[in-house]
Amino acid sequence: MHLFAGNSNLPLSLRIAGKLGIKLSKVEINRFSDGECRVWIREEVKGEKTFVIQSLSFPPDQYLMELCLLGSALKRLEAKNITAIIPWLGYSKQDREFRKGEAVSIELVAKLLETAGFEKIIAVELHSQTVKEYFKIPIIELSAKELVKKIILQKKENDFIVISPDLGGKGRSCEFARIMQWPIAYLNKKRDYSDGKVIILDIDREIKGREVIIYDDIINTGATAVETANFLQKKGAKRIIFIGVHSVLSGNAGILLQNSFIDEVITTDTIDLSKEKQFSKLKIISVDDLLTEKLRNLS
Ligand code: R5P
Repeated sequence: MHLFAGNSNLPLSLRIAGKLGIKLSKVEINRFSDGECRVWIREEVKGEKTFVIQSLSFPPDQYLMELCLLGSALKRLEAKNITAIIPWLGYSKQDREFRKGEAVSIELVAKLLETAGFEKIIAVELHSQTVKEYFKIPIIELSAKELVKKIILQKKENDFIVISPDLGGKGRSCEFARIMQWPIAYLNKKRDYSDGKVIILDIDREIKGREVIIYDDIINTGATAVETANFLQKKGAKRIIFIGVHSVLSGNAGILLQNSFIDEVITTDTIDLSKEKQFSKLKIISVDDLLTEKLRNLS
């Protein structure tokens, strides 16, 4: 088995390779002076099972192209069962035409990955189940919920109400509430697509004096998390934990979250977060065991 890594999340890739007891396979990824990407596989892979790890994190266009070129080079070398492990599947937010004339970007990304030569995708916690419909190749979704459960159960206070942040996250939040055996409440959230502003309109349950936990897939600008916390604090929540499986943390999201009513933000390392983006309320749990186990089963 060969395990290659793109440049987006080397710490996670190295940990997975270490757990598997192998070294990352050799590849050179560099750029021409105009920024064009060039990859060069430095291994014999003909007939060998190959995996490529790459998150589509910042800058997503660049990391997507790297991933496609890696797949394409492996296909030319006649590698077998070329699988992309994409811990954070960027572009998945664009899974439908929100406004007439917009591209459904994940549809194109799916085609690019297939054309590049990937025969299977492994991803962690997808933005929506609709995403799967755009892929003709199998897409295996791994959930971070059991990992989160372990962390939460270590806490003294663990009698929460799960809060579903929006309609799109209903299924995900319901599943989390079921696993934890906690009640659930639903928020009614609206986003203005022109400026990204988030407005929380309503909640369907009394939360005064309660500990609440919001389970979301992504924290990008932090607007959803901060506005949700403002709303829940006004409604009298005693303690607020926000789970965002993938932390994009663009712009000054970290500062906004640190200064918000949220007591703790829990995320995973599907995206490699630089020290500058981290903040004291943030707890990062690793998906390394989750992905390693899946790779072991597939290798
Ligand atoms: C929305 O559908 C997603 O599940 C997240 O709530 C959203 O993408 C988070 O983005 P932001 O942090 O920019 O509000």
